[in-house]
Amino acid sequence: MHNVVISGTGLYTPAQSISNEELVESFNTWVQQFNTENAEAIARGDVEALAESNAAFIEKASGIKSRFVMDKAGILDPRRMRPRIPERSNDEPSILCEMAVAAARQALERAGRTAADVDGVIVACSNLQRPYPAIAIEVQQALGIDGFGFDINVACSSATFGIQTASNSVQLGQTRAVLVVNPEICTGHLNFRDRDSHFIFGDAATAVLVERADQAVSAHQFEIVGTKLLTLFSNNIRNNFGFLNRAAEEGIDAPDKLFVQEGRKVFREVCPMVAELIGKHLEENGLAATDVQRFWLHQANLSMNQLIVKRLLGRDVSEEQAPVILDRYANTSSAGSVIAFHLYQDDLPKGALGVLSSFGAGYSIGSVILRKR
Ligand code: COA
Repeated sequence: MHNVVISGTGLYTPAQSISNEELVESFNTWVQQFNTENAEAIARGDVEALAESNAAFIEKASGIKSRFVMDKAGILDPRRMRPRIPERSNDEPSILCEMAVAAARQALERAGRTAADVDGVIVACSNLQRPYPAIAIEVQQALGIDGFGFDINVACSSATFGIQTASNSVQLGQTRAVLVVNPEICTGHLNFRDRDSHFIFGDAATAVLVERADQAVSAHQFEIVGTKLLTLFSNNIRNNFGFLNRAAEEGIDAPDKLFVQEGRKVFREVCPMVAELIGKHLEENGLAATDVQRFWLHQANLSMNQLIVKRLLGRDVSEEQAPVILDRYANTSSAGSVIAFHLYQDDLPKGALGVLSSFGAGYSIGSVILRKR
């Protein structure tokens, strides 16, 4: 059995960004148009008038101020309210592959590695743009990696589930190093006409290189002390999009073919589960929450993260201890905790302990305990 490290991380951030104010202006324009066009039916009581959104509410309820997106114009056009991402020919790289490769190249560079040092690619994300061939195999080819690639989807927890899978394979000596990549175009599955959730997501891609500790050469190494995963079935975050939609024409384009959630229930149910899992995981490794210098948590809601850390430590913590990237990136699904890890790791001293944790649909929760080398 080999010891395993994360030897490099990478981040791709889209060039465009949408503020809460811009998003709300587009949403409210659409609401006003809808209410004007349906004024008579609304007056008769046949149609319910739509309520406007509010930038101050969004920031207060979620902590989100803006989000990076792959296509700003399509999302903000009140007649469209979805990104415009033109189809590409099969001879061109897919857009998900392109984002993944950008993040992966940075992870390799920080690890001091090239494609020749890597044996596998796992694309782990919520929003895979096609069923096959696997995006991971396309990424593998684009980077010139000899070995294997496969995709996994465990929603927002995909990254930690991918890291455990990669870590197991390196530990067993099946591979020298595996890239785990999380390309997320979350705006593709977001219903920008749903007031409750239109502000939640943004786009980004992250990557980590998981490698044998005795072979790693990087200056940015974190030993993987342990990984722990948990799933529990819930319908509170759900998306019914899939290949069987065409077999039931009546449901095509219905709102349930996009992201739908019961936000309050998710908040209430998931926070204690995450705190318990991380606490148990630390205990199993002979560690206490007070030993942890940094929590790189999934970035869905600021109050959720504050509550989780408070449950673990019994007190509020600073942003230094639980970094926030949600304000500028929003929820980027599987990429969120890895963005926090990528951006807030270089200041940690040798030996510092950190926990990378994801949580989301499934429900699915992952915890990765890391020690700076
Ligand atoms: N603008 C203005 N008001 C809004 C609004 C908007 N965009 N969306 C909802 N509201 C209103 C509601 O109508 C409700 O009004 P009421 O009290 O008069 O009924 C009020 O704000 C509270 O709505 P609620 O949905 O209960 O808000 P919330 O405080 O739960 O915040 C979320 C909503 C989505 C930010 C929050 O529940 C959340 O983040 N949950 C967890 C999400 C999560 O982690 N999901 C996982 C995905 S990986």
